[in-house]
Amino acid sequence: MSDFKKKVIYQIYPKSFNDSNGDGVGDLPGITQKLPYLSQLGIEMIWLSPIYASPQKDNGYDISDYCQVDPIFGTMDDFEELVTEAKKLGIEIMLDMVLNHTSTEHIWFKKALAGDKKYQDYYLLRPAQADGRLPTNWVSKFGGPAWARFGQTDLYYLHLFDVTQADLNWRNPEVRKELYQVVNFWREKGVHGFRFDVINLIGKDEVLLDDPTGGDGKPMYTDRPLVHEYLKELNEATFGKDASSVTVGEMSATSIENCVLYTQPQRKELSMVFNFHHLKVDYLNGEKWSDSPFNFSQLKELFHSWGETMSEQNGWNALFWNNHDQPRAVSRFGEDQQYRIQSAQMLAATIHLSRGTPYIYQGEEIGMTNPNFETIEEYQDVETLNMYQELIKNGLGPEQVMKRIRAKSRDNSRTPMQWNAEKNAGFTTGTPWMKLAPNYLEVNAKMEQGHTGVYAFYQELIALRKKYAVISDGSYEKYEPDHPSIYAYLRRLGTKRLLVLNNFYAEQTEITIPTEFVQGSVLIHNYAKKKLEAVMTLRPYETLAIYLD
Ligand code: GLC
Repeated sequence: MSDFKKKVIYQIYPKSFNDSNGDGVGDLPGITQKLPYLSQLGIEMIWLSPIYASPQKDNGYDISDYCQVDPIFGTMDDFEELVTEAKKLGIEIMLDMVLNHTSTEHIWFKKALAGDKKYQDYYLLRPAQADGRLPTNWVSKFGGPAWARFGQTDLYYLHLFDVTQADLNWRNPEVRKELYQVVNFWREKGVHGFRFDVINLIGKDEVLLDDPTGGDGKPMYTDRPLVHEYLKELNEATFGKDASSVTVGEMSATSIENCVLYTQPQRKELSMVFNFHHLKVDYLNGEKWSDSPFNFSQLKELFHSWGETMSEQNGWNALFWNNHDQPRAVSRFGEDQQYRIQSAQMLAATIHLSRGTPYIYQGEEIGMTNPNFETIEEYQDVETLNMYQELIKNGLGPEQVMKRIRAKSRDNSRTPMQWNAEKNAGFTTGTPWMKLAPNYLEVNAKMEQGHTGVYAFYQELIALRKKYAVISDGSYEKYEPDHPSIYAYLRRLGTKRLLVLNNFYAEQTEITIPTEFVQGSVLIHNYAKKKLEAVMTLRPYETLAIYLD
C-alpha cells in the first residue's frame, strides 16, 4: 500500500514554471533545476501537466503523440534526468494522462480522416439526426456544439472540449489496449503516479442521445456505469501492478456516491479523486462566467458533506484550491491585498489539515494572486478567448466581460512562476510566452523564503501531516456548521483529536470550542500565540489547529 495519505503533491504547469533555455517557455531542465526548492518545501510527488507532443491548442491537453516529449519542453533524456534527480531527493513524478480524447493531429485521427475504418472506430463518429440536427444536442465545455464535421463526409465527430480534441471510443477494446500501453510505457520509465484527465467521461453509452432536459448534455455522458469497469481494467492492466502507485482521477461534474466507488481501496479503481463542487460556489445558477461573490455557507456544506461521507464510507479525496484551470484561491476566497499572507495561510490550513491528499499548485506556496490583466489581448487560453466572443455576442459590454474574465479565466493560474524580483521574475531570460502578474516585485519565492510568510507555513503543514497520524488517517467531522464566518472541523483517530478553526473573513469573530480543547496544544497558527479559552476570538483570516492527545 502506498502511503499517499501522508504525501503532499505539487502540481507543475511546465510552460510556466521555469525556462532553462531562454525561449520564453518553461521546460523539463528548468524543473530539474528547481528540485532543491521543492525538496525544501517537503513535497514528495510532482504532478506534471502534459509534456507530450502536442499542437498546444489546449496547452498540451491536446496530445498528438502520447510517447514523445514535446520539443518545447525538452527531450526524453531530459525527462529521464528529471525522474532520476527527483528520486535522489525522495520525489516521485506523477504524469497527466489525457485518455478521453486526442488531438485531431494524432496519427489515429489522421488515419481515420484518410478513410481507414480501423481508426474511424477509435473515435465517436455519428451521422446527423433524421431532421438534419447534429447527432446530439450536447454542448462543448469550451463553448459551442460538441460535434464537428468529420472531413468531407456526412459524419460528425464528438469533441466534448475544443474542436481539435476528438473524444476516443473507449468501447473499442483496441483503443483501451493502446491506451494501457501508453500508461505502461511511462511506468517503465519509473513513473508511479498518474493523474487521469476528465476520466469519468470515458464510459459513454453505445447509443448517444439528446439531453432530454435541453441542457448541455453532461448527465448523458458523465459517470456512466461503464467508467467503473474501465477503471478496474485500467488498474489491472497498468498501475495496479505497482504497490507504490498513486493515482488521481479528475472527475468532471461528479457525485459523492460515484467518488466513494472510484476510491474505495477494495474496488481497485483509483487512489483518489478531484471533484470541483467546492470551486463552483461562485457560479451563479451553475454558470461559470457569471459575476458573483462566493457563497460561504454552500462552500462549508460541500466540504462537510464530502468530508464526512468519504470518511464514513472509506473513500479518499484529493484536496485542492488551485490548479491550472482555476483562478488563484487567495484572490477568490481570501483577500489578496492587505491580508494576502494571512488569507493564503488560512486557505492552506483548511485543506492540509483535512482528510485527503493535499495538492499545491505552483506559486500557491508563495501566495501568488490573479494578474488582473487590462485587455483581452493579454489572455491566451482557448476557453477564455471563446467565451469572450460568446459573452459579447450575448450582449454584454466589453468591460463587463473583462471583469468576469479577470475573475474566472484559467489564465489566472497560468502566468509564469514568480521566482525573484529580477527581470521576468527570474522565470526566463527571453520573452515570456505569457505576461507575468505585475506584483512579482513584492510576491516572489526569494522574498517568501526569507521570512515567516506563506512558504514557511506550507513547510510546517507538510511536516505536520507526516508526523501526526490524526492528520493523515483520522476521521472527519463537521464542527459548528452554522457559524457565519468560521469553517471548522474535527479530526479523530483513537483518543487523539484535532480541532481546526478557520476565519474566512476580514472581520474578527468568536467561536465556542469544546471545553476539553482548552487544555489542548496549538499545532499550527498564523498569528502570534494566544491563550486557549472556551470562547475564542479569531482575527481576520486567522487559522489555528488545537490538538488533544
Ligand atoms: C481537464 C484539464 C483541462 C483541459 C481539459 C481537456 O479539465 O484539466 O486543462 O482543458 O481537461 O483535456
